[in-house]
Amino acid sequence: MSKQKVVISGAGLWNPEHTISNEELVDSYNQFAELYNQQHAAEIEAGELEAKPFSSAEFIEKASGIKSRYSYSKEGVLDPTRMRPQLTERSDEELSHQAEMALAAAEKALTEANKSPEEIDAVIVSCAYTQRSYPAIAIEVQAALNIKGFAFDMLVACSAATFALHRAYEMVAAGTAKAVLVINPELTSPQVNYKDRDSHFIFGDVATATIIEQAETCQSEHSYEILGIKAQTQYSNNIRSNFGYLSHVTDVDPYSADKLFHQNGRKVFKEVCPMAAEHLTNHVTETGLSNEQITRWWLHQANINMNVLIGKKLMGRMPTQQEAPIVLDEYANTASAGSLIAFNLHHKDLQAGDYGVICSFGAGYSIGSLVIQKR
Ligand SMILES: CC(C)(COP(=O)(O)OP(=O)(O)OC[C@H]1O[C@@H](n2cnc3c(N)ncnc32)[C@H](O)[C@@H]1OP(=O)(O)O)[C@@H](O)C(=O)NCCC(=O)NCCS
Repeated sequence: MSKQKVVISGAGLWNPEHTISNEELVDSYNQFAELYNQQHAAEIEAGELEAKPFSSAEFIEKASGIKSRYSYSKEGVLDPTRMRPQLTERSDEELSHQAEMALAAAEKALTEANKSPEEIDAVIVSCAYTQRSYPAIAIEVQAALNIKGFAFDMLVACSAATFALHRAYEMVAAGTAKAVLVINPELTSPQVNYKDRDSHFIFGDVATATIIEQAETCQSEHSYEILGIKAQTQYSNNIRSNFGYLSHVTDVDPYSADKLFHQNGRKVFKEVCPMAAEHLTNHVTETGLSNEQITRWWLHQANINMNVLIGKKLMGRMPTQQEAPIVLDEYANTASAGSLIAFNLHHKDLQAGDYGVICSFGAGYSIGSLVIQKR
């Protein structure tokens, strides 16, 4: 089997129509906290319950770099008596919420790649959560686009996008697929504990999509040869969600705090930054390059201070916005989609021959990267 040259030929980004600013989010959280503290005044006074502390927009921006986030459903999140998004359940015959997000991004990626659905022969939907186990969201999208071949879902938390791009690369390189559509419909807001001051601000909703194909079929204005892929995982409980179908039989509250996103943010910061910097330097070196030759780093977007630290380790100095673009201020953490949002918004200015790196890091722990070169 001959190894094909593989390229990224198109990228698509879809934003929900609603945004929530830090100020709006903090305002509703603080109203909730006040209400909670009033309702539980006696237990708090008796030392049986802890009072809910107040949140602050200044803290959020300083600690994370986040100013705002997109929200698939704003209603409900800002209601201090609800504190979670409100979605309407759709019937089995209707397009599901996540497939709708995925389709919107997929159509943009197809247009950018100058490809029609008939030319795609595999679809991967990969994200931190899928709204159901089966049938796969990917197969629903495949049907909606009238794509032949096969489709499947993958879950790899923050590295879902890069790990799916790896699988697409391998299929195209091996010749088992000619063109693969990878989609990341990150509907993160239902897993956020909006009653938790430490994490209520972290996530936003978005969908990204990417076309991977053989170089010889590529007809895109902006395409990138994939020079190498690298992944690693190391088990950690520091970012965790216990949500799952076992709650039906364990007689526990399926929506208690441990079933939503929770983390030990400090530990994550300390452990993941050196791992990611070492991984990236090793990957770039193994590709026969040095970090100085990389024109653009499309890094995972979880926290601006993480990106600054990793960028400094890679470059020996503070990276500029052009070298390692930050999209956190507008998008917040979008689980696996962050590095691809950065790619979508900041790749067309690269010159033929320029090198770039797409990288994710986070829960698992998991780290995934691709070294690419503009054609
Ligand atoms: C989550 C994260 C932004 C928190 O920043 P931090 O500087 O580590 O903040 P801490 O959690 O240590 O809290 C610092 C103080 O601010 C307080 N604080 C936390 N959230 C607050 C909020 N929303 N508003 C005001 N104060 C807040 C804390 O209670 C703490 O107070 P204390 O010092 O009196 O105990 C940071 O740890 C981080 O980015 N970690 C990386 C992991 C990550 O982003 N993961 C996402 C999934 S991949």
